[in-house]
Amino acid sequence: MSDPSVDARHARTAAEPPGAPIDWRRLDAVVRPEEPQPEGWYAVALSEDVGPDRPYGCDFLGGRIVVYRRASAEPVVLTATCPHMGADLALGDVVDDEVRCAYHHFRFAADGACASIPSQGRIPPGARVHAYPASERFGLVWAYNGERPRFGPPEVRDYSEDDLEFHARRTNVFEIAPWLSIGNTFDFMHLRYVHGFEFDFDPREIRYLDDHRIELDLDFDSPATGRFQQRIRVSGTNVVSFSTVADTTTVGLFTSTPIGRTCQTYYVACVPKSEVASAEERRKQIAEQEALGDGLLADDARTLQGIRFRAGALVAEDQAMARYMEWVARFPRADPAAAYR
Ligand code: FES
Ligand SMILES: [Fe+2]
Repeated sequence: MSDPSVDARHARTAAEPPGAPIDWRRLDAVVRPEEPQPEGWYAVALSEDVGPDRPYGCDFLGGRIVVYRRASAEPVVLTATCPHMGADLALGDVVDDEVRCAYHHFRFAADGACASIPSQGRIPPGARVHAYPASERFGLVWAYNGERPRFGPPEVRDYSEDDLEFHARRTNVFEIAPWLSIGNTFDFMHLRYVHGFEFDFDPREIRYLDDHRIELDLDFDSPATGRFQQRIRVSGTNVVSFSTVADTTTVGLFTSTPIGRTCQTYYVACVPKSEVASAEERRKQIAEQEALGDGLLADDARTLQGIRFRAGALVAEDQAMARYMEWVARFPRADPAAAYR
């Protein structure tokens, strides 16, 4: 099932020497916080979690982070362990675009460097935390797991963020790595027999666009659902968005973020402003979409818990899933914050 057309640029994990073969069949779905996770943009907080003056603390990958806003409202994401004596920076204060530790008032700037120490002017070289590249989009604050972003924050197809009315919220916590829940997109047996979708699709029509995006269009037609098209984009190994085009269009974005050994999922329901003029009707459509998403997640809550994944007796219908698993296995991994926990 090895596919030589997979682009060689994303064919290595950071730890592997060039030329080492990748055994994608050994891919697993257990999140081990001590191991590097795939590079990419991960949702770390809802926009509403991060107020103008208070830092917000949460788990992310194998550690803890602090999220705050500068006066410009731009989000900043730093590792939260103070390098002085280990206090949690999320319990500190935001002062002049910096986070100030509650314990001895060391201050850290948005680039992670210690900006001031109350007792002295000299700043020890080790007095810094890791600054994750950060962005805010679709009601979520995103952090890039990697030294420098190799690609931009997630987008949906056909619409810019400004074109959409949206509502983001936390959904299930799963005990599997993000790639496996995103992999539902390519798991046509799961879509047909668990979620009950009816569609014809040739897996060769899946487009591996570049080193971080995959797109496909599925045409559904059944007495239960009627006709509609889903225009799907997978970004990295942890984000999928889908525009559902029927008489009207709705857009959804689902993403999953490792927090320790589990993963927090988020769902963003969006309505194109051009489709629905009234604010009340937009809210109603968003609520309907969220109810639909909850139904799908209820199906998945039974299937995506407790998996001890291995690629075993694959069958013909697994072709698209196998190619996606190979893509995931080859995706670069990173842990730029390892030294700061
Ligand atoms: S522990 Fe943070 S300033 Fe001392
Ligand atoms: Fe599913």
